[in-house]
Amino acid sequence: MVARASAYADELVQTAKTIASPGRGILAMDESNATCGKRLDSIGLENTEANRQAYRTLLVSAPGLGQYISGAILFEETLYQSTVDGKKIVDVLSEQGIVPGIKVDKGLVPLAGSNNESWCQGLDGLASREAAYYQAGARFAKWRTVVSIPNGPSQLAVKEAAWGLARYAAISQENGLVPIVEPEILLDGEHGIERTFEVAQKVWAETFFYMAENSVMFEGILLKPSMVTPGAECEEKATPEQVAEYTLRLLRTRIPPAVPGIMFLSGGQSEVEATQNLNAMNQSPNPWHVSFSYARALQNTCLKTWGGRPENVKAAQDALLLRAKANSLAQLGKYTG
Ligand code: 13P
Repeated sequence: MVARASAYADELVQTAKTIASPGRGILAMDESNATCGKRLDSIGLENTEANRQAYRTLLVSAPGLGQYISGAILFEETLYQSTVDGKKIVDVLSEQGIVPGIKVDKGLVPLAGSNNESWCQGLDGLASREAAYYQAGARFAKWRTVVSIPNGPSQLAVKEAAWGLARYAAISQENGLVPIVEPEILLDGEHGIERTFEVAQKVWAETFFYMAENSVMFEGILLKPSMVTPGAECEEKATPEQVAEYTLRLLRTRIPPAVPGIMFLSGGQSEVEATQNLNAMNQSPNPWHVSFSYARALQNTCLKTWGGRPENVKAAQDALLLRAKANSLAQLGKYTG
């Protein structure tokens, strides 16, 4: 029996295409309150709603951001939040031509029966939460699960990650949200690039197997993979050309061309490294839009420059725009900086 297509099929395809538009990528600003607290702490600020609001206002109102950024992933609090001067954040984004998205997973917990690995919660009640997020203006969703190389990954952890992503993707499409499928392969470890490649192949094979089993429409999803790099503690470093070679080989052997966009996470790479690696991947034509969905690699300098001081807002926005523009050029394969 052929599964029923989502009532939102055309809209999903259109939303995914808009996000995967030339020279643009995603600003991930969906830090949970706990993670946002760590970022604020690094600049000596308290983790209050007012401070989170001030920082997020700065991000979304950077003038001209929409030239480089097609989508912004929000944490639930921000979806319903206003800027410091009382405008709804989703409206500010829409005016900039940026599609609002929402993190819908409920975070990681220990996976019983595994090698100290984790699994991602959030399927319970997901359909009704997503229906409400759609009403509030969200048009895409994100679910991040992780796979650890030093801790395995065990067959159980890979299967759980892939199945969870597939169920989430199907439920999101039923509710009008384009699912960003993100099995992050953590950078931690001493392993070489070959090992990361092997694990990534396995993870993506299973993820697509279960997505097909759940009748997910591939034209209406976006992927958020980790780039294929050596482990962070590996002695041998890789050049952007090597990262591009391995990562593109992974994509070509595992990702159907029906998928409109591949929006990489930065995963702890430096700002410049993340831009150079993306640029290297766009030196030859690809069947998909190969772009970015960075949090730290877009925000690090911006956050430090701001330091919580109103007089630094403009300089911090300039720092954000500088990274956004560099990654926009890298999406087009034209970064030279
Ligand atoms: P980083 O780019 O900082 O890895 O964050 C992306 C993200 O949204 C992780 O889920």
